[in-house]
Amino acid sequence: MSKKIVLLPGDGIGQEVINSAKEVLDKVAKTYQCQFEFEQFEIGGSSYDKHGVPLTDETINACKSADAILLGAVGGTKWDNVPTELKPEQGLLKIRKELNLYSNIRPIKGFDSLLHASPLKEDIIKGSDILIVRELTGGLYFGKPRERRENGTVAVDTLVYSRKEIERIVEKGFESAQIRNKHLTSVDKANVLESSRLWREIVEEKSKDYPDVKVDHMLVDAAAMKLITNPASFDVIVTENLFGDILSDEASVLTGSIGMLPSASLSDTVGLYEPVHGSAPDIAGEGKANPLGMILSAAMMLRYSFGMEKEAQAIESAVNESLQQGYHTSDLNIADGTVVQTDKMTQVVVENIK
Ligand code: IPM
Ligand code: MN
Repeated sequence: MSKKIVLLPGDGIGQEVINSAKEVLDKVAKTYQCQFEFEQFEIGGSSYDKHGVPLTDETINACKSADAILLGAVGGTKWDNVPTELKPEQGLLKIRKELNLYSNIRPIKGFDSLLHASPLKEDIIKGSDILIVRELTGGLYFGKPRERRENGTVAVDTLVYSRKEIERIVEKGFESAQIRNKHLTSVDKANVLESSRLWREIVEEKSKDYPDVKVDHMLVDAAAMKLITNPASFDVIVTENLFGDILSDEASVLTGSIGMLPSASLSDTVGLYEPVHGSAPDIAGEGKANPLGMILSAAMMLRYSFGMEKEAQAIESAVNESLQQGYHTSDLNIADGTVVQTDKMTQVVVENIK
């Protein structure tokens, strides 16, 4: 069977890392006798430059008929002066909404050979293995009204969540915990926000359906602190859109570099996979980008969209082995090993796929 994959490189280093993912998938196809068909479309600033909008109907339709989607990154200083509604990020928000990608899964697990790359002490980071389940199509990102009033002197954003939106993501949190270490931390701000109080209520209700999962409620400020002081105490974190955005960037540095981290954004029928990092315009085109977040996102695609567990593990083991051999890109702040460019890092991973 051949799988149809839409590639959305986007902007900046997105272009470079998407090629890495493609090379790795080509090697997987050869090694495991499967077939991937790739079709490439624009999103973000590169779409704005070509079509005048950050996301076209053509791209949306291609994604809707794909088996899965790989996305690089969007954004860059080049589009600073573009009107808000046409900014590259709007393309990303729109594709999430159009495809109903409400569930964003961000695993944060350090590699043993890179423990010393973490800004935290090794004995604090050791044993950390966190899965952030972030709500992705609701909350402050999409609430209406969103406007300027009173001659532009007042700005309004709206934090709104429906019961249905909370229920479906909370279920994902519980299901993820069930197949991991059975510990779910629900992060909210229930001491202040009404939407958080509804969130907490629903988590309590749902917990009755998952009696084997231990549930904690944690306020987002306390969770931010605990991620740094005791990251190993977390298993699965489930939280709303903005809290999840902030906490996942915070958690990403635990592993030494945000460049290593993959993510999956899932609807009930399709998945979009992208590294957690952004388009890094400062290093774009220099061949310095860390391709591992993108490559590991391709592994998540094999696992979640195609059920190809052994192929996904082959990629993850190849990444692990490449790091053990000492290869890494310059974003990792360590003195040992060999610093290599994006293409060499990719090539090493490709060679390590068994
Ligand atoms: C992310 C990014 C996006 C977000 C931006 C680029 C809109 O930071 O995927 O985490 O805030 O969701
Ligand atoms: Mn973010």
